[in-house]
Amino acid sequence: MSAKSNNKKFSRRSALTMIGAGAGVAAASSVLLPRFAIGGMAKIKIGTLLPYSGTYTRLGQGITNAMELAFQQAGNKLGGRDIEIVKVDSEAKPPKATELTNKLINQEKVDMIVGPVHSGVAMAMAKIAREEGTMMIVPNAGANQVTGPFCSPNIFRTSFSNWQPGHPMGKVLADEGKKRVVLCYWAYGAGKQSAQGFKDSFIPAGGTVIKEIGIPFPKVEFQAALTEIASLKPDAVYVFFAGGGAVKFVKDWAAAGLKGKIELVGPGFLTEGVTKAQGAAAEGIRTTLHYADTLDIPTNRSFRAAYKNAFGKDADVYAVQGYDAGLLIRAGLEAAGGDTGAKAAMIKAMETTAIDSPRGQWTMSSAHNPVQNFYLRQVKNGVNEVVRLAMENLSDPAKGCRM
Ligand code: PHB
Repeated sequence: MSAKSNNKKFSRRSALTMIGAGAGVAAASSVLLPRFAIGGMAKIKIGTLLPYSGTYTRLGQGITNAMELAFQQAGNKLGGRDIEIVKVDSEAKPPKATELTNKLINQEKVDMIVGPVHSGVAMAMAKIAREEGTMMIVPNAGANQVTGPFCSPNIFRTSFSNWQPGHPMGKVLADEGKKRVVLCYWAYGAGKQSAQGFKDSFIPAGGTVIKEIGIPFPKVEFQAALTEIASLKPDAVYVFFAGGGAVKFVKDWAAAGLKGKIELVGPGFLTEGVTKAQGAAAEGIRTTLHYADTLDIPTNRSFRAAYKNAFGKDADVYAVQGYDAGLLIRAGLEAAGGDTGAKAAMIKAMETTAIDSPRGQWTMSSAHNPVQNFYLRQVKNGVNEVVRLAMENLSDPAKGCRM
């Protein structure tokens, strides 16, 4: 893969390269001004566009916290330079995303953008990042397009494609002989693509989807859907909800008397970071995801301890994805010697560096999406425990990606 195809703005040869080449700081100062504050090197500016309000608030906070932890563990320096993080609240509102992304790039003049959580926001951000050549790290939003038809050398994802976590669950249920399933999800890109991932393994294995119920994002009025599900009596219900919506759905499910009668499953977002709020209603729920609290590997143990120590909360998948975004940025900027203009070097390092992730080793696909293991998990005493490996080294099909 070549970075040259999208190199429009990659050519801003930076100050550091000039110094290396022997250009005097004073002589070059007019060129260097944007990069160097008086008395030292300018900070590397990282702009986050993440939800700090609304139903996905705790997701945005977990990502930000853990990315900052990854930077702290490197002495708060990237390639020798200090860091400044500019945080913008996306509110998980796609109509605001273009303006907010432009604000980060053109007004704040950030060196790279990190975000978002919501797939609709991701579409707007990725469009601008592609056009401008701005480095973009996606620490959650699963929009398949970002590492599909919208893929770009300067766009990387440390999370998943929406298709990925749904796919193993279709196989799990089909292998258990479940035949009739209802799908229920927030009816936007993430919910629909998650459902498709499920169907792509469930239906060819003999399963039938008897009904799909879409709920407008971020609405949490589930009563009509629950009544319909009760009357359909499916073998299982696969749902996509996350954050505040997942808390409400799981509690409403139990309150409607469906718990223990019909199996409720989903991608792991249904029970990530929210089991305390869900309480007894979450117990026993099975999900599939690229992470589980109890993954018994040294990096996960040390990460969870450091996260708890720093923020007083348990880590979850969003924190892991944010941490890995921090590690990826570190790897890129270290390879570039802190030179944010040296994008080809950054990109090469980000494509090839093995990230020592709490989820275990994963690699970057040629479309810049994680190739990773997916686990079947179950909630026990509020903890998402590993049941077993559900799919090993699963790669998104990356339909339409050409780089
Ligand atoms: C998404 O919009 O892509 C999304 C949001 C929340 C999740 C997962 C995916 O937990």
